[in-house]
Amino acid sequence: MAEVKTSVKNCDASAIDKTSSTAAPKRSDRKRFFTTETIPRLSHEDPRANELIAQEKPVVLTDTGLVATALGWDLDFLRINLGDGLFSVYLSDTDKFRYYDEKKRKDFGEDFLVGLERRDMKFPEFVELLQNWKEGDKRIYLQQALTDGVGKRIVIDFLGFNWNWINDQQKRNNWGQLTSNLLFIGQEGNITPVHYDEQQNFFAQISGKKKCTLFPPENFESFYPYPVHHPHDRQSQVDMDNPDFEKYPKLKQIKGYETVVEAGDVLYIPMYWWHEIESLDDCGVATSINFWYKAGPTGKIEYPLKAHQKVAMMRNIEKMITEALNNYDEVAPFMQSMVLGRYT
Ligand code: SIN
Ligand code: FE
Repeated sequence: MAEVKTSVKNCDASAIDKTSSTAAPKRSDRKRFFTTETIPRLSHEDPRANELIAQEKPVVLTDTGLVATALGWDLDFLRINLGDGLFSVYLSDTDKFRYYDEKKRKDFGEDFLVGLERRDMKFPEFVELLQNWKEGDKRIYLQQALTDGVGKRIVIDFLGFNWNWINDQQKRNNWGQLTSNLLFIGQEGNITPVHYDEQQNFFAQISGKKKCTLFPPENFESFYPYPVHHPHDRQSQVDMDNPDFEKYPKLKQIKGYETVVEAGDVLYIPMYWWHEIESLDDCGVATSINFWYKAGPTGKIEYPLKAHQKVAMMRNIEKMITEALNNYDEVAPFMQSMVLGRYT
């Protein structure tokens, strides 16, 4: 098991070991235009925790021990043990890292992508970038699936995760298979803009702090997601730091659920819930691992349909129309002529 390091809270220079310190600028609290409720923080043994997960509502579990063996994964340890492979590192001109789909990007053309690039590099190169980072440089965020290529120590820690607990969750909620574990290592202040995923997610924090803001799937219209064929599919088009209420009037209606996760916490992010993740100042890098699970088989359909079921339907219909027309420019007029003056 990796040696467990206590996280450094006081940001005096002597307390920061040389590999975990970065010159990333401090971030003040961002202004919010919406109200939030706090996501409950519960013991995994509290029956309310399982109830919330069963109802597909977010909850922070404080004591699962899910990634206890990874709490010692600081940059020094990772540099030695992570292996010799290549890692996906995103570089951004701003503090936002809006995910894009590589395949859709090829089909769509690359014009849409401004200020964000992916660079594949070995881990020590990433650490060097972090250490030499200065104001004005592109911000950096490593996002890499944990695969067979990792070193033995990492495999041992990985096998030591609390699989008992998480396998039990998978079974009791009738989820499909675990599809991947994505490792995120980023500078403080990095923001993953608001989006939804099509999988269930147990989001485990390893170091640093992340502010996570979630919104239920009922908010589909309020977030104005990109079209499904767009490389930014599943991402909201809105800029949460500079909201354009004229262009996106329904954005005013949102109301969020918020939490700050720290090392050892596990946040359940239900499938189709909108979420924005911001790494906060904690004198080092913020590291997380997520556990993504496919949805289970659909049981008996009950009416009225749930918001996320409607989102899934809309996605399928949109995909079908886009593929059948074989021309993106025809999609909007086609949908309009189906609806306008007939259903409106
Ligand atoms: C992040 O940690 O920055 C993003 C995680 C997610 O969206 O699942
Ligand atoms: Fe996500």
